[in-house]
Amino acid sequence: MKREIKNTVFIKSIVNLGDKPGVRRPEFAFVGRSNVGKSSLINCLVNRKNIARVSKNPGKTDTINFFEINGLFYLVDLPGYGFARRSRDTKKDWQRMIEEYLMGSADLRSVFVLLDSKVGAKESDVQLIEWLSFNKLPFRLVATKSDKISRSRQRQRAEEVLRSLKLPEKTPLIFFSAKNKQGREALIDLLFLKTAEKISAGPEG
Ligand code: GTP
Ligand code: MG
Repeated sequence: MKREIKNTVFIKSIVNLGDKPGVRRPEFAFVGRSNVGKSSLINCLVNRKNIARVSKNPGKTDTINFFEINGLFYLVDLPGYGFARRSRDTKKDWQRMIEEYLMGSADLRSVFVLLDSKVGAKESDVQLIEWLSFNKLPFRLVATKSDKISRSRQRQRAEEVLRSLKLPEKTPLIFFSAKNKQGREALIDLLFLKTAEKISAGPEG
């Protein structure tokens, strides 16, 4: 049976782990550098224009936002990291908020780590992957804005990214575009599959 996102409800925005939605469901978090396309990816998956708010300016998302899908699981939109214009104090708040959520949420099934297809992996991405691995949090790689590079460039980019992140050659990486919808179906299939699965640590095969 083909799985589809039929119903999306914005539940709430939080800044503290203790304020998560009352009803527990599997959670899928989207993390990555500011402006990488986290909110756009969520909008594309759920076929809504701006349910997750998008902006040309980095730092648009500044809370942890829960979207309930088909009454089955949550997509969790997170603020981006590496936003230089944030003050040091705000950065610390951000780090506390994200780390508290990622380490503390018992319902987190997988962390989707988004990288810009054109930019590739930056030092902050390497650190994030190390941090996720150290904390035994399962993650998946997604290369966003794939419409900006050709398919042959995508294959090269995949190799470069995995090398930079010190991950095995065969680690899956989904190329995704909110513009032409590349990767959308693969990602939706994965979400439904993971909702039905139990948790495992490290990069997923
Ligand atoms: P923060 O909330 O600030 O961390 O950013 P974000 O990661 O949520 O990024 P957002 O979805 O707000 O998108 C940032 C910019 O990238 C916007 O101008 C989007 O239109 C653009 N963008 C997002 N996805 C795509 C894509 O697939 N293709 C192209 N060409 N542009 C995209
Ligand atoms: Mg955002």
